[in-house]
Amino acid sequence: MGLKVLNTDLWKKKFTPIEIKSLSDSDAIKLGTQITICIAQADKAYHIDDSPDLTDAEYDILQFNLSAFEKHVPGFFNRIGYSPSVGASGSSGFEKVKHSVPMLSLNNGLTDEEIYNFESSIRRFLGVKSDQEIWFTSEPKIDGLSLSVIYRNGKLTKALTRGDGTFGENVTANARKISDIPLKVNTDIEVLEVRGEVFMGRRDFIRLNEKQSQLGAKLFANPRNAAAGSLRQFDFKKTEDRKLGFFAYAWGELSRPLARDQYGSIQKLAKLGFKTNSLSRVCKSVDALLEHYREIMLSRSNLDYDIDGVVYKVNELSYQNRLGFRSTTPRWAIAHKFPAEIAITKLLDIEIQVGRTGTLSPVARLKPVNIGGVVVSNATLHNKDYISGKDRNGVKIRGGVDIRIQDWVEVYRAGDVIPKVKSVILEKRVAGSSSYVFPTFCPACGSATSQELGDSTVRCTGGLNCPSQAIEKIKHFVSRKAFNIDGFGKKIVESFFVNGWIKDPSDIFRLEKTYGPGCRVEISDLEGWGAQSVSNLFNAINGRRIISLSRFIYSLGIRHVGEQAANLLAKHYISWKNFYANVVAAREKNSKELLDLSAVDGIGKITVSSLVDYFFSHESSWVTSSLIEEIEVNDCVSRVVNDSPFLNLTIVFTGSLNRTSRAEAKLNAEALGAKVSNSISKRTDLLVIGDNPGSKVKKAREYGVKVMSEAEWLTALSGLV
Ligand code: IVH
Repeated sequence: MGLKVLNTDLWKKKFTPIEIKSLSDSDAIKLGTQITICIAQADKAYHIDDSPDLTDAEYDILQFNLSAFEKHVPGFFNRIGYSPSVGASGSSGFEKVKHSVPMLSLNNGLTDEEIYNFESSIRRFLGVKSDQEIWFTSEPKIDGLSLSVIYRNGKLTKALTRGDGTFGENVTANARKISDIPLKVNTDIEVLEVRGEVFMGRRDFIRLNEKQSQLGAKLFANPRNAAAGSLRQFDFKKTEDRKLGFFAYAWGELSRPLARDQYGSIQKLAKLGFKTNSLSRVCKSVDALLEHYREIMLSRSNLDYDIDGVVYKVNELSYQNRLGFRSTTPRWAIAHKFPAEIAITKLLDIEIQVGRTGTLSPVARLKPVNIGGVVVSNATLHNKDYISGKDRNGVKIRGGVDIRIQDWVEVYRAGDVIPKVKSVILEKRVAGSSSYVFPTFCPACGSATSQELGDSTVRCTGGLNCPSQAIEKIKHFVSRKAFNIDGFGKKIVESFFVNGWIKDPSDIFRLEKTYGPGCRVEISDLEGWGAQSVSNLFNAINGRRIISLSRFIYSLGIRHVGEQAANLLAKHYISWKNFYANVVAAREKNSKELLDLSAVDGIGKITVSSLVDYFFSHESSWVTSSLIEEIEVNDCVSRVVNDSPFLNLTIVFTGSLNRTSRAEAKLNAEALGAKVSNSISKRTDLLVIGDNPGSKVKKAREYGVKVMSEAEWLTALSGLV
């Protein structure tokens, strides 16, 4: 598609440098400009819209040709106003920069109950009793995109988008054009990293779309997309034309704290010249938070910017520090989202997708409908029982009404989640329609399906013999949180699988030997592949032959073993050899290995049986028979204080802790190199007891395990974490 702008005859000749030389000056400029446009379009399609419109080979040729122009027509880039540093930087077109402090996202709550739970879990974690107040800030959740702006000695030096949370994109030139972002701040804070939301005001959004429509250009679906598109403009002058705003609401690296609480810190940012949200306030109870939420919801339509909820943050920074973070979200904040928007549309068809673990997931194909600025044409139908109007225990949902093809349905979306079908408009049901019959055979491979008692999930029994399961497993294996093989996208997985080149994930590491240069069949024979893209792919694969144990466990795609469980298992077993030997031995009922696995804190019964089944079944044979020979799994080394007195000890906490919580105690123990178990055995080294410790103390005495009170534990901890 991107190639359309090129003169196709010239394109076919593939431009040897000599042909470029033979072009007239004005033709060269015209063509060179077209190529830069193609590259920018392709970058955007690939990295921003997530729908590549060029093959890798086509893209490589574009890049090659562009550099050929510069080589043979000196000063060419200058003449067409193209900056190779932009085009040549990271894959998105912007330089990738590591965040000094990761940019995280927020946990969401929708109901009042979830907010009460948020507060009580904080109380529990901190060990703060109900007679003591915990204060929160409450502020609108701006529907834009987050940005981090970094000042050194008061001068704006860098602006980074969130990116993947660890690496952001350097959009400094564009951020400088946003008037709410001061170029200089009058402060003696050496390093000041201010975080907030870039947004486009509603009026500016309407104006921009009017302009786009006059120019015949694509319209933006909503202010957020317009803001994101504008901030990530390659032509930074345009950022100025497209008015963007910035609300400061958080911070990253600071050479010294701004204040002792959240509210004070934001006030300080306001004093330094940042725009902060005037609707923000401090609330001293959950009731006050909820009252503020309703107030903000009422004033929502009068604001000139889009908001999609209210954010609550623990005000006291010392509490925030103690609460810390889960893998991607802070424990001390929550986004209370506004209720989802609902639309009514027709259900055109039900399609069954077969996932990585064999789950048959029904997807509703809908007559496209606009819900809050986004066109929705698919929605999840969850599972067989959901379609038939009951839950997994057979209890009626939606009053027992089933969902049928041709029904009119209410569809909703809340935030970024996949749209869902809420209910059926029975009055509009066509006469003579019949209930949907859920497949009893896998639509992808024809294998029989199975459904366990009390579980709504229908599963294909084909394992890796089912093409859908195999493809999804491979996609998971190469994905970012697993082996993270750069450039090994969905389309490549599918095409290599269809060619029979990869049947299970381990084949990826043999691709170079079997389909590399000099082989009878080569990847480069495939349409869309060139020598360069093939070599890039092999480099990416070879660069991932060494992997951490936690990523490795996660990448196997075992049911119920997500990122968190994989982390816990890696920390517990340290090496792959140890992990594998133990999990295989845990098959034996009453074995010490099974007891040990079941005692890993955070690993529940379902995960235990899923792990044991996985390594016992044929399903995992590829892991041990072929994958493990191709790679090296690094032992899990925990980032702990080496001289920690708790290093390698197994600790059990029991009874109710008063000044801390189990969760906090566990985090601290692990940070000091200890393992936390929830049951006591001969191998336990230490039992920490709170009030009413129960039978564990007796057992500890029997086994000769050292016992410590909560107070002693906290004293031992002080100065260590
Ligand atoms: S605080 C460590 N405050 O919401 C958490 N985020 O869904 C820092 N957002 O990535 C975020 N308004 O882009 C915070 N008042 C606000 C916000 C806000 C909008 C965005 C932000 C974040 C996303 C999470």
